[in-house]
Amino acid sequence: MDIKILKEAALKFGTPIYLYDLKIIENQFDKLNKELSVLENYKIHFAAKSLSNISILKFIKNMGAGLDAVSIEEVMIGLKCGFNKDEILYTPNGVSFKEIKEVFKLGVKINLDSIESIKDFVNEFGNQSITVRINPGIYAGGNDNVSVGHSESKFGIPEERIDELLDMEKKGKIMITGLHIHTGSDITKNNQFKEGIKKIFSIARDFKNIESIDLGGGIKIPYYKNDTSTNLNDYVKEISKELKKFELEFKKKLKLIFEPGKFLVSDCGFFITKVNYIKSTKTKDFLQLDSGFNHLLRPTLYGSHHEIINLSNPLGKKKEYDVVGYICEKDTFAEKRKISDTSKGDLLCFKNAGAYGFNMSNNYNSRLKPAEVCIHNNKILKIRETQSLNDLLLGQIDIF
Ligand SMILES: Cc1ncc(COP(=O)(O)O)c(C=O)c1O
Repeated sequence: MDIKILKEAALKFGTPIYLYDLKIIENQFDKLNKELSVLENYKIHFAAKSLSNISILKFIKNMGAGLDAVSIEEVMIGLKCGFNKDEILYTPNGVSFKEIKEVFKLGVKINLDSIESIKDFVNEFGNQSITVRINPGIYAGGNDNVSVGHSESKFGIPEERIDELLDMEKKGKIMITGLHIHTGSDITKNNQFKEGIKKIFSIARDFKNIESIDLGGGIKIPYYKNDTSTNLNDYVKEISKELKKFELEFKKKLKLIFEPGKFLVSDCGFFITKVNYIKSTKTKDFLQLDSGFNHLLRPTLYGSHHEIINLSNPLGKKKEYDVVGYICEKDTFAEKRKISDTSKGDLLCFKNAGAYGFNMSNNYNSRLKPAEVCIHNNKILKIRETQSLNDLLLGQIDIF
């Protein structure tokens, strides 16, 4: 990304600000499709939770993707953006049955992740075809917070309860037409992916009505030079191998679904902030930014790494800094980070801020959420206003 454009966006629209380069999303989508093209029948469903600005969703829809939604709100936003009902897959976890009912009535595809919710579903709607999320009992992912497919995790139907599901199907209560797994995010160890692929194809053997397998998201992209990443070629080879075995044995074709979030939109995002002060102590120099974990939560939540560039002095001599926010709790973005010599007022840019960046932002300390802009056809276009104090007060009731 051209530093000049990042600076121009910050000067034109102010800081802090999220900027997305749509060309990068398109390139990632093409890259993934190229790898997946050996599989005959597949669909990419973008994980809306990672970035759900309506302009981004529309752009991704126009590239040909479907949507992976976790809440009725994401479903509604998806419909508003023009995704067809059958292009949205709703995978809730622990939501009320009222919500599941509402989504089903909208005609959107339902992917349930507990025997308990399936029982409610059967009681209400009788024998329908649905897909289900399985917990494969595999530890995968970059850290504990994003590892969701192991036996201690709340996600998916635990392996030991799959028999209950098969029994319900045998008794004609429900028809399971698809299985889904998502073991975690930032999966670097290809053997973890492979384990999951083998497991889900093996479980699929018992489901006689199966038409699709959804392999979730989790593809790891590099966050810095020489960082690890998922070997996509290996990943697809393993899927292809298991798919061929299955199709040969059961004489039927399966559709595959993929739900990338980070792979599509992490790289495209840049979060630009300004240095309010440089506070020096005996041991360190703190760069105090006009932002905090209210805008970019990932480093505080699970220690995610974001490369930081000083846009105002990109070629300056490197010095070591602690980069911190203005929130009234510890909100360290980076410790002992080498950044070009920085002065008060400089613009600092966080890379890989597209996925789970703005979407995890909040109003803690009554701070306003930042604007979002995108680069499209060489133009910087605003796609979300900075919140105003009125936005913050909206819906509050003054009883005095
Ligand atoms: C069910 C499901 N699918 C897909 C994703 C996207 O994962 P990633 O952004 O790692 O590709 C997630 C992330 O939490 C998820 O929970």
